[in-house]
Amino acid sequence: MQAPTVPLRPVPGPRGLPWLGNLPAFGRDPLAFLTRMRDEYGDAVTWFLGPRRALFLSHPQHIAELLGARDRTFGLLEIGWSFKQIVGGSVMLSKGADWRRKRGLVQPAVRPRQVRAHARTMIDSALAAAARWRDGERIDVHGEMTTITQRIVLRALFGNDLGDRARALAVAMAVAEREIAAELRGVALFLPDWVRTPSRRRLLDAVAIIDAEMHRLISARQKRPEGTGGGTRVPDDDLLTRLLEARDEEGRPLTAKEVRDEAVTLWAAGHETTSTALTWTWYLLSRSPEARAGLDDELDRVLDGRPPTADDYERLPWARQIVKEALRVYPPAWVIPAVAEEGATLGGSAVAAGTTVWCSPWTTHRDPRWFPDPTAFRPERWGADAPDVIPDHAWFPFGGGPRGCLGARFAQVEAVLLLATLAQRFHLDVTPEEAPHKAGLLVQPAVRLIATLRARPRP
Ligand code: HEM
Repeated sequence: MQAPTVPLRPVPGPRGLPWLGNLPAFGRDPLAFLTRMRDEYGDAVTWFLGPRRALFLSHPQHIAELLGARDRTFGLLEIGWSFKQIVGGSVMLSKGADWRRKRGLVQPAVRPRQVRAHARTMIDSALAAAARWRDGERIDVHGEMTTITQRIVLRALFGNDLGDRARALAVAMAVAEREIAAELRGVALFLPDWVRTPSRRRLLDAVAIIDAEMHRLISARQKRPEGTGGGTRVPDDDLLTRLLEARDEEGRPLTAKEVRDEAVTLWAAGHETTSTALTWTWYLLSRSPEARAGLDDELDRVLDGRPPTADDYERLPWARQIVKEALRVYPPAWVIPAVAEEGATLGGSAVAAGTTVWCSPWTTHRDPRWFPDPTAFRPERWGADAPDVIPDHAWFPFGGGPRGCLGARFAQVEAVLLLATLAQRFHLDVTPEEAPHKAGLLVQPAVRLIATLRARPRP
C-alpha cells in the first residue's frame, strides 16, 4: 500500500544577511547549519544561499519525490568551475537527452555482473595491503584506504595498461581533488571562469597530466582491432574497453573525448568516496567491540581462513550491515542539490522554477524519527528481524532516482570485500577514539586517524 502524500508546508528558516543570505552560516559549518534547520524549523525550510531562494527538505517522502523527478521537473545545480575541468561533459554534469544517452552508455559497464568481474582485483588489492601490514604497526587509516581504492579503480578502468605511470596519475588526481575541495570552501566559487588563481593553475596542470595519459590510453586501444578491447595483456572486461565498445540506440559510439570524460569521472567518483566510507567504518568498528566480535565470528565461520571471493558478498550479512550502518552515520556525500524547473511539484504543491532544492543524507540519516539514538553505530538496525521500519529514502548515501549513483553496487561490493579481507587478518585500533568530522567535498575526519594493527590469529 502506498503511504499517503505528506503535504509540503515550507516555513521560513533562519534570518540571513542582506545579499549573502544564510551563506556565511552555511559556509562556517554546513552540517550544523542543516541540522539546525531541520531541528528548529521542520521538514521543509526556505532559506537563502546568497540571493538565491532555496528549499531544504528532510522528509524521506519529499526526498524520494525530488530525486525521482530529476530527469523531468528538477534539474542539475551547476557548482564551481574546477569540478568541470575534471569530469568534463560526462554523465555527472550533463542534462536532458545528452545525460540519458550517456547514462545508457555507461551504466552497462557497472552492472552487477561486471562488478563481479572486478571482485578479484578488489580482493587482491586488499591482500597486497595486508601482506605489507605488520602486527603492532601504526597506519594512517585514510591514507591506506585511499591507496587501496585508487589501485582498484585504476585497474578496473585500465587493466594493467598504466604500469608504473599509475603513481604519477594518482598524485595528479589527488592534487585535482584538493583544489576542487578548496574552491568549494571559498570565494573562488564565485569567480568568473576566465580568472586564473594559483589554485586553478595547479588544477589545470594536474588535469593536463591526466589528459595526456588518457589520450595515450584511448588512442592505443582504438588502434587495436574492434572486439579485442584490452589486447593481449589486459582482460577484455576493463571499464575502458566497455566504454569504447558501448553503442547507443542508433549504434553510435562515444567519441574519444566522451570516453575520456566518462573514464575520468568513474575514477574521480569511484575512489575517494569509498575510501572515506571505509575509513569511517574502521573508526566505528574500533569503538564497537560487539560489532567487531560479530564480524570476527562471521568471517571465521563463513571463510574458515580462506580469502573471500565474489560469492562471499552475499554470504556475509553482518559485514554488509556494518558497511550500511557506517554509510548511515557518516554518509561521505552529505548533500544533494537540484533546481526546480517549470511544472515542479513536491507533496502536491508547486515549487517555483529556479528554486534550488537541497536534501542531505547527513541530516536525514541522523533523524531520530527514522533511526532511534541516531548517532549510535548499530549494524543490527539493518537485520531482517530489526523492530523499526525504516522508510524508503531515510537512508540514501547514494542518492536515488534516475540520477542515483552509478557506482553504488561497485562501492558496496568493494567496501564489503575489502573489509572482509582485511578484518580477517587484522583488528584496527583507531585513535583518537572521538574524532571530529568536517564537511568538504565529502564528510571526512577533521583529524588524522591512526590505527594500531593487531594481527588476528588464523582460525
Ligand atoms: C561509498 C561510495 C560512494 C558514494 C557514497 C557515492 C555517492 C554518490 C552520490 C550521492 C551521487 C549523486 C546521486 C544523486 O544525485 O542522486 C553519486 C553519483 C555518481 N556516482 Fe557515486 N558514490 C560512491 C561510489 C561511486 C563509485 C565506486 C562510482 C564509479 C565506479 C561512482 C560513480 C558515480 C557517478 C558516475 C555518478 C553520477 C551519476 C549521474 O549523474 O547520472 N560512485 N554518487
